Amino acid sequence: MQSSAGPYSVVAGAGAIGYAAREIAALGRFSSVHIVSSPKVWRAVGKDVQRGLRLSNRNAVHLFNDVESAKHLGSVEHIARSLCRAGADRKSLIIAVGGGVVGDVAGFVAASYLRGVALVHMPTTLVAQVDSSIGGKTGVNLPEGKNLVGAFYPPRLVIADPELLRTLPDREFRGGLAEVIKHAVIADASKFALLEKDMDKILLRDRDALRSLIPRNIQIKARVVSRDERESGLREILNFGHTFAHALESVTHYRRYQHGEAVAWGMMAAAFLGHELRLTPADDVSRIISLVHRLGPLPPWPNISNSALLNAMRSDKKSRSGILRFVLSPRIGHARTYDKVPVRAVERVLHFTPRLITAASDGHGKSQ
Ligand SMILES: NC(=O)c1ccc[n+]([C@@H]2O[C@H](COP(=O)([O-])OP(=O)(O)OC[C@H]3O[C@@H](n4cnc5c(N)ncnc54)[C@H](O)[C@@H]3O)[C@@H](O)[C@H]2O)c1
Ligand SMILES: [Zn+2]
Repeated sequence: MQSSAGPYSVVAGAGAIGYAAREIAALGRFSSVHIVSSPKVWRAVGKDVQRGLRLSNRNAVHLFNDVESAKHLGSVEHIARSLCRAGADRKSLIIAVGGGVVGDVAGFVAASYLRGVALVHMPTTLVAQVDSSIGGKTGVNLPEGKNLVGAFYPPRLVIADPELLRTLPDREFRGGLAEVIKHAVIADASKFALLEKDMDKILLRDRDALRSLIPRNIQIKARVVSRDERESGLREILNFGHTFAHALESVTHYRRYQHGEAVAWGMMAAAFLGHELRLTPADDVSRIISLVHRLGPLPPWPNISNSALLNAMRSDKKSRSGILRFVLSPRIGHARTYDKVPVRAVERVLHFTPRLITAASDGHGKSQ
């Protein structure tokens, strides 16, 4: 993986955690090692991680509650003070063990504690393994919005072991798969075909199916971000489905959807919008919708006016000065950003996406 701070390795695959101690030793000497995690994650995977790292008791474990509402500066201060009390210095290493919340918070702590200490990510959710631990974005939310304070801070190493996903709740796992589908739609047509073939096994968390799924997804994200680390253009394609998703999340006050569920709706809407603008062929639209459907039922589309949804889209931080920007896919495996999308087209999509999808899933249910 390339970053402006130099290359770093991503060790991914079943059993990767068994190599953790060796890989970390290869990074150099550290005065102390500090784990940042959450009580929930640490209960689920702490023993495996400790074994993999061959940690002695001298290593400090700093826990904070990893709910999204605790992804704020208060948690950064809490962890930084805990590091201080444990004697962490410039030569210390922070290992983030958890999902995207732990990774984003611990990453920002690593970026700012004593103006920067070494960081290793050990992601424990599917989203964190294929997405948030790759690319160097760290940060926390403000009451004014998500991820508004942060830093680009690449880790020295990422260790992604699918074995750590065994205890992940099903809803989180399926939500992560929405981002996996997104990667395939925007950048890898053959990966998309493979997902169509293997989805049933993947949903059962079959070891063999996950073995290739995770490294290949990491490669897609790594390829996109290393060409555009600071998000000037190309990296935007990672937001496929996200203009709609963020609007759905915002109008439902982040309570109705797990993020991946909103992305699942958003990808279907983006596929329709692509078709509406004569970009995405009908066959690709139906393949995207069928694959997303296989993730299982989604919380329903909110009962809210199109103008409220449009307003939410216009105030998305990715939309520059109120202009509607969308990432669309001219064919599976490719995507780019389109601005100046006619409002009428978006309105039509907002109108018929919930109707078509609900009708399609009812039909699907009946034919079973
Ligand atoms: N930095 C980036 O580039 C980037 C990219 C995508 C998302 N994110 C951020 O990531 C966050 C979402 O991350 P997420 O989807 O990984 O969810 P999460 O970190 O919120 O974790 C979801 C839940 O699963 C639990 N959990 C985590 N691992 C577990 C395990 N192995 N077993 C049992 N329970 C486990 C957590 O305690 C939590 O309750 C958001 O804040 C988002 O903004 C950042
Ligand atoms: Zn996302």
